[in-house]
Amino acid sequence: MRLAVLASGRGSNLQAILDAIGDGILDAGVVGVFSDRPKAQALERARAAGIPAIALRPADFDTRDAYDAALFDAIARVQPELVVCAGYMRLLGAAQVEAWHGRMINIHPSLLPLFKGLRTHEQALAAGALQHGASVHFVTAELDGGPVIAQARVAVLPGDDAASLAARVLDREHPLLLATLQLLAARRLRLDGASVEFDGRPL
Ligand code: GRF
Repeated sequence: MRLAVLASGRGSNLQAILDAIGDGILDAGVVGVFSDRPKAQALERARAAGIPAIALRPADFDTRDAYDAALFDAIARVQPELVVCAGYMRLLGAAQVEAWHGRMINIHPSLLPLFKGLRTHEQALAAGALQHGASVHFVTAELDGGPVIAQARVAVLPGDDAASLAARVLDREHPLLLATLQLLAARRLRLDGASVEFDGRPL
């Protein structure tokens, strides 16, 4: 399966995908990596793997619409079958989200529908959550609100701070994202309207 990956920063999820492909455990190829931040480490990881790495800076565009259109034109040029948002920190355009309905996923570091948006680990600690985790979901117009495909759960331990909790969640994010991508690549998962189907049955 041809994957386009969107990432704003470190790119450890991207690296997990690249490593899994290299190890032969994910039947996919990353055909382009896209970022809103030219200095994103994710772009370096892509270049090191010989993958087109494209940065588009929002500041170089007059409007949000113009940025979103240019980004998705660039994405369309590499002809992906699936767009994977892996630490992409910008809101996506509504038209583009609609056009990619069922063909775009996101990994979010919380047990959705809890703790949408930013600083999820801080949110979990402030709420006194005993459990926290990560979710992979199809992207829809509602921020972090699309149908959930899979989740990984971790305990919140006494003495945790946002950094220790983030590290524990991140450890689980990589296998969670890979397992989801394996199922998508095997065409075992699809989005039917608003519901996720697994092997032809509602999840
Ligand atoms: C991850 O926690 C991801 O869930 C969130 O941003 C972080 C990105 O990490 N959306 P990385 O760039 O993949 O290392």
